[in-house]
Amino acid sequence: MKLTLSLNGHSTELVAAPGARLLDVLRDAGCTSVKRGCETGDCGACCVLLDGEPVNSCVVPAAFAADAIVTTLEGLNDDPLMRRLQDCFLEAGAVQCGYCTPGLLLVAWQRLREGGELTEYDVRHAMSGNLCRCTGYAKPVRAVLDAWEAMP
Ligand code: FES
Ligand code: FES
Repeated sequence: MKLTLSLNGHSTELVAAPGARLLDVLRDAGCTSVKRGCETGDCGACCVLLDGEPVNSCVVPAAFAADAIVTTLEGLNDDPLMRRLQDCFLEAGAVQCGYCTPGLLLVAWQRLREGGELTEYDVRHAMSGNLCRCTGYAKPVRAVLDAWEAMP
């Protein structure tokens, strides 16, 4: 099956086996920020943005991405807000093994882009689908709040 989609801002044609998951197709396309974790939709390591909304790509059929806009962390390398978020994660010591980090960054970026007030509760709610075994969440939450406070 051939899929035409916008992947990280580029019109892209990907080949997917019948029944393939978006996770596998994206990793085969070189998007290795999309991590393979639980593969049951529970950990958020495989999070990507599908038409702007966070989804767990391990439970999304690749066919759902046909004619869609898919964004992975690779597509936001030059985005100023993402760069600020990454700086804040580093400054807060919010990255340990790093396996959860792409997913956390994507959901945080999407939440910051929504604008408006942001409380610790909001950040924890936004990250509630992303499991982190290392940090205890306090530092990632602090990093997102720092990034928000630094927004113009
Ligand atoms: S690998 Fe997809 S939610 Fe865990
Ligand atoms: S930093 Fe290791 S799982 Fe989050």
